Amino acid sequence: MKAYHLNGDAGAGGLVLADVSRPEPAGGEVRIRIEAASLNYRDLMILDRVGQGGLNGRVPLSDGAGVVDAIGSGVTQWQPGDRVVASFFRDWVAGPFKSSYVPSALGGNTMDGMLAEYVVLPATALVSAPAHLSAVEAATLPCAGVTAWHGLIARGGMGKGDTLLVQGTGGVALFGLQFAAALGARAIVISSSDEKLARAKALGGSILINYRDTPEWDAALMKATDGEGASHILELGGPGTYDRSLRSVASGGKIVQIGVLTGFGPKPDLARLQWENADIIGVTVGSREHFTAMNRFLTDKAIHPIVDRVYGFDEVPDAFAHLRTGSHFGKVVVKL
Ligand SMILES: NC(=O)c1ccc[n+]([C@@H]2O[C@H](COP(=O)([O-])OP(=O)(O)OC[C@H]3O[C@@H](n4cnc5c(N)ncnc54)[C@H](OP(=O)(O)O)[C@@H]3O)[C@@H](O)[C@H]2O)c1
Repeated sequence: MKAYHLNGDAGAGGLVLADVSRPEPAGGEVRIRIEAASLNYRDLMILDRVGQGGLNGRVPLSDGAGVVDAIGSGVTQWQPGDRVVASFFRDWVAGPFKSSYVPSALGGNTMDGMLAEYVVLPATALVSAPAHLSAVEAATLPCAGVTAWHGLIARGGMGKGDTLLVQGTGGVALFGLQFAAALGARAIVISSSDEKLARAKALGGSILINYRDTPEWDAALMKATDGEGASHILELGGPGTYDRSLRSVASGGKIVQIGVLTGFGPKPDLARLQWENADIIGVTVGSREHFTAMNRFLTDKAIHPIVDRVYGFDEVPDAFAHLRTGSHFGKVVVKL
């Protein structure tokens, strides 16, 4: 079979397409024929670190969907032909997060990912693909979708009457926007582009701010909400956005701390958090339990993820290059 490997050698551009033997499922494992895999901002950061060692030979991308192709002994919950998606943390099945789950993140330093024709995983690391979604759509869910679900709904309790701020129009942001629209929450979108804001409006965004034209978007947000602010914030920017997020949060609101789009290690002034009785919710993706709950919601509400562009398996470097431009709206997917 063919699989992409991360490769730090000069000239490889960080990726090589390799011929490797097809893996066989052991007891308790399932082999999946991958139909589609999606890219996340994390995958760009991993590609940028490939020369630093530890990653050479790893299969990239956490997110993939496909069809069960073979099962190992003792597997009862899956059968060949089932449509499945892998959960981001192989070992975080349910319950609260434990730091011991981190090495089981797919497509990272210690675990191969989904950019291969066949992948073997434990039966417990998979969820059923929602029946109304194509493989391309289902492949967008594991990282961006589950992160937004876990932060905003499982932990943040977002519902009707709430006001959500999303930063930008990438994968996590648009899942948040779609969840808010489906729940009857008001959505505020900030973006670099008026054209993207128009598209966000069509998805249910009601307060739209171009952060290039209006760098003090927190003041604009407060004005547009009559001084109330946002009850839920998808904090995706990091150091470049965090203080404005703190100035945008409503009384009793929740900042869902997720992103590093402007770098790591924000050093915000947290004073307002206390005066407003607001919370910070730190999130690393989510569990299979979160994923299953999100899929029920997607099915009930007939939500289709927003796919920006689909690339062929031989076009993977182009897919990474496209994501890096930041010109995408929603998810970038590779179809096998
Ligand atoms: N903690 C976790 O478990 C977790 C999970 C998933 C993702 N993340 C993080 O969340 C962030 C988003 O991930 P993603 O995969 O959704 O990214 P993505 O799809 O690549 O989205 C990038 C988009 O963010 C917007 N953006 C960039 N800089 C911005 C800024 N300064 N202010 C506001 N918006 C900005 C741009 O949209 P516009 O052109 O519309 O402005 C850009 O196209 C990343 O930092 C990622 O590492 C963390």
